[in-house]
Amino acid sequence: MYTGLLHLHHWLPFVYLLLMLVVLVQNFLVWKSDNPFSDKLARQNKIVVLLTHLQITIGLIMLFGFNLDMFSDMGTLMGDAGLRFKYVEHPTTMILAAVLITIGNAKSKRAEAASAKAKSVVVWFGIGLFLIALRMPWAEFLQGA
Ligand code: HEM
Ligand code: HEM
Repeated sequence: MYTGLLHLHHWLPFVYLLLMLVVLVQNFLVWKSDNPFSDKLARQNKIVVLLTHLQITIGLIMLFGFNLDMFSDMGTLMGDAGLRFKYVEHPTTMILAAVLITIGNAKSKRAEAASAKAKSVVVWFGIGLFLIALRMPWAEFLQGA
């Protein structure tokens, strides 16, 4: 079970990060031009939110369903840089990023003008992606699960 979740949590980000980049570029182009904010773009932004939530949900299940004993000795957990990264810094930073991405999409939906809709996504998704990049376990991600 855990192996399956870990594989999902490992491979989903490839699709996720690619789509995130595509969506950022597309929203940026709408923000900086007179192009309309299409239903298709709104749908793509929504899929990024969906994949973000899915990734976070899988992470939460991995952490609290299978690794709860990590938190029985907080001194060791916080004192070991590797453990702290994996079980504390990575989850908290990613949850913060997901909150920002969700807010960005909600603000985009509420905005009126096409450029305001697109700008909200670029700014909030952009900060979210920056946070994800900061606390992503790049070595594990790139070397394969
Ligand atoms: C930890 C569990 C989750 C929480 C706390 C959560 C919370 C939220 C919140 C606050 C929104 C914002 C709605 C808005 O834009 O006004 C949202 C939207 C959304 N979530 Fe989640 N979610 C969770 C898990 C999931 C999962 C597992 C999925 C699907 C795999 C998912 C898919 C979506 C989608 C598709 C949207 C819609 C965005 C839109 O309407 O544009 N979420 N969620
Ligand atoms: C956008 C959000 C996230 C991304 C892109 C992401 C990505 C990753 C990646 C690539 C790994 C390395 C997997 C491997 O070893 O091959 C990983 C590990 C891990 N993630 Fe996430 N993650 C996210 C959110 C979360 C959240 C919210 C939690 C917990 C609440 C979480 C918990 C974990 C745990 C516990 C591991 C270590 C798994 C292990 O080695 O047993 N992740 N994550």
